Amino acid sequence: MNERMEISFRLNGRPVRLETDPARRAIDVLRDDFGLTAAKEGCGSGECGACAVLLDGVARLSCLMLAAQLDGRDVTTAEGLGTPEAPHPVQTAFAVHGAVQCGYCSPGMTIAAVELLARNPAPDRGTVRQALSGNLCRCTGYVKIVDAVLAAAATLRGEDS
Ligand code: FES
Ligand code: FES
Repeated sequence: MNERMEISFRLNGRPVRLETDPARRAIDVLRDDFGLTAAKEGCGSGECGACAVLLDGVARLSCLMLAAQLDGRDVTTAEGLGTPEAPHPVQTAFAVHGAVQCGYCSPGMTIAAVELLARNPAPDRGTVRQALSGNLCRCTGYVKIVDAVLAAAATLRGEDS
């Protein structure tokens, strides 16, 4: 018998509520119940970072979280970072610096970058690489991704990049 649970949380700044099986994966709730498809399933086992979301400001892997773990929390997906009309500076920098090829890793990468820059506004290159080490990209070779995060950091500090 499927257990049901009412879950309430903030999702990209708005309060949401649903009744669901608390043992479902958070990535399935976000994608299937809320239509937020930025978080991608790459490996489904905590290895690739494509499914990352911010949980109370901390990057977490939604493929490893249960629906019940969203209850009462503040959840931000890449859709909540910015919009096409008003992108987050990290999203802008990824576009400007050619850090996106197929784009499959990009939502998770930007989530990890936003978390990093919130706690360290002036990271060096090695710190950026370390912060993104849980996010795999099969396309870019990472150089342009790191360039983009450093440029976004400068923008957020109010410096020209
Ligand atoms: S899909 Fe979650 S870490 Fe790969
Ligand atoms: S841009 Fe294709 S996986 Fe990163």
